[in-house]
Amino acid sequence: MIESDKVVEASRIICSSNWMLGFTGAGVSAESGISTFRDLDGLWNRYPEGASGGIMGILRRHPETAHELFSGMLNSIRNATPNPGHHALSELERMGYLKSIITQNGDNLHQDAGSSKVLELHGNAFRFRCLECTRKKHFSRDGLFYLVDDILSKMDHFSIEWIIPRLPSCKCGEPMRPDVVGFGEPVHNLEKASEATSRCDLMLIMGTSGVVYPAAMFPVLAKRNGAKLIEINPKESALTSKCDLFLPGKTGEILPMIVENIKEMNR
Ligand code: OAD
Ligand code: ZN
Repeated sequence: MIESDKVVEASRIICSSNWMLGFTGAGVSAESGISTFRDLDGLWNRYPEGASGGIMGILRRHPETAHELFSGMLNSIRNATPNPGHHALSELERMGYLKSIITQNGDNLHQDAGSSKVLELHGNAFRFRCLECTRKKHFSRDGLFYLVDDILSKMDHFSIEWIIPRLPSCKCGEPMRPDVVGFGEPVHNLEKASEATSRCDLMLIMGTSGVVYPAAMFPVLAKRNGAKLIEINPKESALTSKCDLFLPGKTGEILPMIVENIKEMNR
């Protein structure tokens, strides 16, 4: 049951903010049918090695799961479309309240919903980057699946030597790999996200367990700089105790209510 007084309070805080920043995790895409990592039906629950070693950690230990693992992940993003939570965030940007979103997600759904100021920390599943030069290439949804379905149909276990010659080639002739951040690799947009965090006076934290660093340092830094923190999540997270307001529930339900409330207040 969503507490409407908390929706009203969140709407008031948003309306009186000067520079609101969003901080999102896998939970905002859960209602689009994409698995989170640490929930009961999450990816790391099905493949426990992932929690400490990510995808490569799973594949090093169980190379024979490659087909099942990649197919499962790709099938969940194959037909995923933005849910009402993503749309509400893009509407908050258009209304002038939400200045930017820092996201840990690489599913492109914020952008598909129309959000234009998205800082991806963990890369993007639709982009490849050259192993040699700095070139990047963004694939359309159809283009990506055409490529990976072909690779997957021939893959029975994971091996770097097998996969490298099957990756797309860069203009420089070298192979391109998915532009997603693996465990232990540096996150993207660190500087821009730090700058946005130092500017914000309100951070809206949504759908993240808040346990993966350096991503989870941004809410901590925002708080230290004096920003207010509002969190939306069906369950308390590692960040909840730092928040000024916690709205228990799904982003796909609560965010549209907040947008409606703000419109009502501005009428
Ligand atoms: P987690 O799986 O750790 O957490 C998902 C959060 O979403 C949980 O707190 C859930 O309670 C919440 N949640 C579930 N359904 C929701 C809904 N409908 N609305 C709102 N919240 C909901 O995912 P992240 O915090 O994103 O890193 O995980 C962070 C990083 O860990 C990922 O980016 C990934 C992973 O290892 C890399 O791949 C590098
Ligand atoms: Zn290149």
